[in-house]
Amino acid sequence: MAKKILVTGGTGYIGSHTVVVLQEAGYEVLIVDNLSNSNIDVIDGITRITHIRPVFEKLDCTDREGMRSFFEKYPGIDGIIHFAASKAVGESVQKPLLYYRNNIVSLLNLLELMPEFNVKGLVFSSSCTVYGEPDKNPIDENAPIKPATSPYGNTKQINEEIIRDYIHSGAPIKSIILRYFNPIGAHPSAEIGELPLGEPQNLVPYITQTAIGIRPYLKVFGNDYNTPDGSCIRDFIDVMDLSRAHLVAMDRILEDKSDEKMEIFNLGTGRGVSVLELIRVFEKVSGKPLNYKIVGRREGDIEQIWANPEKANKVLGWKAETPLEDTLASAWKWQLKLREKGIM
Ligand code: NAD
Ligand code: WQD
Repeated sequence: MAKKILVTGGTGYIGSHTVVVLQEAGYEVLIVDNLSNSNIDVIDGITRITHIRPVFEKLDCTDREGMRSFFEKYPGIDGIIHFAASKAVGESVQKPLLYYRNNIVSLLNLLELMPEFNVKGLVFSSSCTVYGEPDKNPIDENAPIKPATSPYGNTKQINEEIIRDYIHSGAPIKSIILRYFNPIGAHPSAEIGELPLGEPQNLVPYITQTAIGIRPYLKVFGNDYNTPDGSCIRDFIDVMDLSRAHLVAMDRILEDKSDEKMEIFNLGTGRGVSVLELIRVFEKVSGKPLNYKIVGRREGDIEQIWANPEKANKVLGWKAETPLEDTLASAWKWQLKLREKGIM
């Protein structure tokens, strides 16, 4: 019988791509999402790709009794991939309690309910933000965690610690924590992708919206950093590659491939790409010159960070494979699709 996976935040950006990967691998997928940052039409997009409609319940993970009823209604869930969270760094500075409540209470509820319903595995979405400004690059999982610079980042650190302490206490669960670098791109079919509400905060949606004429120009935040071209450097990882890592992580837990009850992996390409380099690659694959202006630095930005993904490569047998050109082409195809559908 197919194993059952609950994907919280499964109509969101990374969640929806992961649902596709899980379904294609034969898992039965159930989605819980409160639609605070996503749209129900994503379920149709997923179904058009896989021809399997996932179970969907509009539910808030902070609602413990609602979540308990969910587990009662759908018995036999083997694992949870927990994407559901609020993720806007700037907003978290304005509304810290909202972020602490949403991101931390959601996790607490799941952890409390897992043993009660015999759910064995938890894959948790963490972030390279826990490393702050690295002392050296590429950065591996043993690098020190730096004091968080935003409530959002702090929720990731706290949640990692909550999982660690709970497992340390002898809880009957296993967990894999995945620290994502910068996820970008869309499913190659353009049936699903990233759908930022309002003005995008992240670079690639801002680029594609500028190229299609929604935004007049991209502001490049600083060209006076201590990097070869002066712009910041990131590790941009294709969302499909990232999603596949969740499948491998869940398999690893459910098939008891490791004696460790908790493991942490960086998910990145291992290659640092500057903001200006990324713009050049986008212009090449889209065939469109991008209107951009260099402006001042954005407060709180890290100068440069990229992953050492060797642990994930060796232990999980997972590697980011998609060339940056293909990833940016998928992001552009998705933007064109949104225009075609009259969404943006
Ligand atoms: P997203 O906002 O597209 O997806 C999150 C989904 O969770 C949304 O559909 C939202 O409606 C839902 N949600 C939020 N709070 C909820 C709640 N209380 N109950 C139920 N559903 C809720 O974000 P994403 O980019 O897909 O990110 C997924 C996860 O990965 C998040 O935990 C995020 O912090 C983490 N992450 C994202 C990035 C990134 O750059 N996108 C990087 C590192 C880590
Ligand atoms: C990338 C680079 C900007 C927009 C954020 C979170 C982090 C993680 C990923 C969740 C930076 C530059 C951007 C623009 C620009 N999320 N930029 N003009 O800052 O690496 O990380 O998302 O965990 O926690 O902080 O991603 O896409 O915002 O920026 O010049 O309009 O692009 O300065 O150098 P970032 P980003």
